[in-house]
Amino acid sequence: MVVGCAQVFVSLLGQIGVVTCQSCPDYSSYSKTRHEPFSSGRYALSSARPPPLCRTFNSSALESLLSSVGDTIADPDLRRLFENTYPNTLDTAIKWHGFSSSNPDSEELTFIITGDINAMWLRDSANQLQSYLPLLSPSPDFNSLASLFRGAINLQARYLLTSPYCNSFQPPPESNLPPSPNPAADNDIVFPEYDPNKVFECKYELDSLASFLQLSTNYHEATHDSSFFSKFHWAKAAKTVLETAKNMTTPTLDPDTNRPLVPQPYTFTRKTTRSTETLANDGIGHPAAAGTGLVRSAFRPSDDSTTYQFLIPSNMLLCVYLASASLIAREINETSLADEMMAFSTPLRKAIQTHGIVSIPGDGENGTGERVYAYEVDGFGGYLLQDDANLPSLLSAAWFGYVSPFDPVYIGTRRRILSARNPYYSKGEVVGGVGSAHTGPGRVWPMSLVVRILTSEDDDEIKGALGELLGSTDGLGLVHESVDGWDAARWTREWFSWANGLFGGMILDLGRRKGGILGGSFQG
Ligand SMILES: *[C@@H]1O[C@H](CO)[C@@H](O)[C@H](O)[C@H]1NC(C)=O
Ligand SMILES: *[C@@H]1O[C@H](CO)[C@@H](O)[C@H](O)[C@H]1NC(C)=O
Ligand SMILES: *[C@@H]1O[C@H](CO)[C@@H](O)[C@H](O)[C@H]1NC(C)=O
Ligand SMILES: *[C@@H]1O[C@H](CO)[C@@H](O)[C@H](O)[C@H]1NC(C)=O
Repeated sequence: MVVGCAQVFVSLLGQIGVVTCQSCPDYSSYSKTRHEPFSSGRYALSSARPPPLCRTFNSSALESLLSSVGDTIADPDLRRLFENTYPNTLDTAIKWHGFSSSNPDSEELTFIITGDINAMWLRDSANQLQSYLPLLSPSPDFNSLASLFRGAINLQARYLLTSPYCNSFQPPPESNLPPSPNPAADNDIVFPEYDPNKVFECKYELDSLASFLQLSTNYHEATHDSSFFSKFHWAKAAKTVLETAKNMTTPTLDPDTNRPLVPQPYTFTRKTTRSTETLANDGIGHPAAAGTGLVRSAFRPSDDSTTYQFLIPSNMLLCVYLASASLIAREINETSLADEMMAFSTPLRKAIQTHGIVSIPGDGENGTGERVYAYEVDGFGGYLLQDDANLPSLLSAAWFGYVSPFDPVYIGTRRRILSARNPYYSKGEVVGGVGSAHTGPGRVWPMSLVVRILTSEDDDEIKGALGELLGSTDGLGLVHESVDGWDAARWTREWFSWANGLFGGMILDLGRRKGGILGGSFQG
């Protein structure tokens, strides 16, 4: 990327000067090295924002928020981490923003990359923008944040109408950006088939479908702009989401004979040495039973395959956002769509409460039984007790509004998730939290500490997690994907845009809920 070549300027002395051709650093490399000035605290965190000339979206509201909230943060390391992370998606990941060739004056499109991979994930992009809700206000302008949201909704609608079972997509042709190769997917055998010029990877993840409804709800609630949703392809895409989810409520087996049903709505196999990168049983996954009312997911939000296909947090997310997005459908007079969305969401909650909660004998207080949410179930009675750091997770269920943080089943689940009873929880000297099969046991995902803070009312718990987050960046001042709990120098993904925005959004949330904590020191 080369910008700002040979801009002619007139200096204060009246001399004519030329800014030399400046080449913007590749942010993957930039984020792996430290840049001065360092923060003045014990972690001496790097200044990780790219130079202003190289930022992918400018917002004066963002800059004023950074300084006004920054001024309320007493700890120099915490302030720096906030200033680096919150703008990360706007600074680095808005790869292209323009118009659709079919409606070149009005249909905005926004191609948002996940960070160090040049593709747009439905889940990541919805969450990347969600961090900026505090800055979102109605605006018809193309240069506004509102336009970025509309563009992402329009592009996600296109993606869903193209390949509703896929999770990650290529740039739109209007951008003139070339499709990215994905060698890992070269030998994938996937049904329904897809076009690799349009799709980067085709792992069917239920939360990808829900993410479109989440992004739509976020924009709608912040702007009350319902007319936008009647202009292009939103209703058609929402119908596709619903139809895809309905198709995935079908069982894997004929319930009378236990023979695989033919055809399956989705199958996937990959040549790989990692069991979580392919599906068992030649692409149909572990059997999911008939009649639960839950929706199957072949993969998790970590892009790892599910052990049991009824992934509870993803069903929770769908349940929540089908209900909120049905209000959009109603406002644009898509009454039958709105009714169908509610007619799916309401029983889905019942199905989650019926099949997603398991009773663990002797695990409650004083050896009594305890009811907790399972991460995955198969509908035959099989269940998996764990959590994964990626959102939606069980830990985040109280944050995205499926369950109250004071619900006893959530409290018991949360306690279990944040303990050694969760096989993907670990605690080292540097950091303790939830990890993922994506990076293997023993690795902590800082994202899980952020969600821990978002779902806590306990000041000591919040301060403890904040302190660990500050020490987890290897001095680079960015939120990594995973960190070795015992060694902050061992981490994955230098440029994980979503996790950065989530951290920044958490600081804004803390400012509203518990401003006093931002005034404290983490130097001890
Ligand atoms: C953002 O502003 C800088 C000047 O501060 C400019 O050089 C850059 O091109 C702008 N970026 C975009 C995407 O407009
Ligand atoms: C859902 O299943 C029906 C019946 O098999 C099929 O015609 C339709 O194309 C499927 N839709 C999606 C989005 O998978
Ligand atoms: C929906 O219908 C109502 C009543 O018929 C009408 O006032 C409103 O303008 C319609 N809205 C849209 C977006 O078509
Ligand atoms: C567990 O035992 C303690 C002490 O006897 C008691 O106060 C508490 O209510 C018990 N909890 C439950 C769930 O029975």
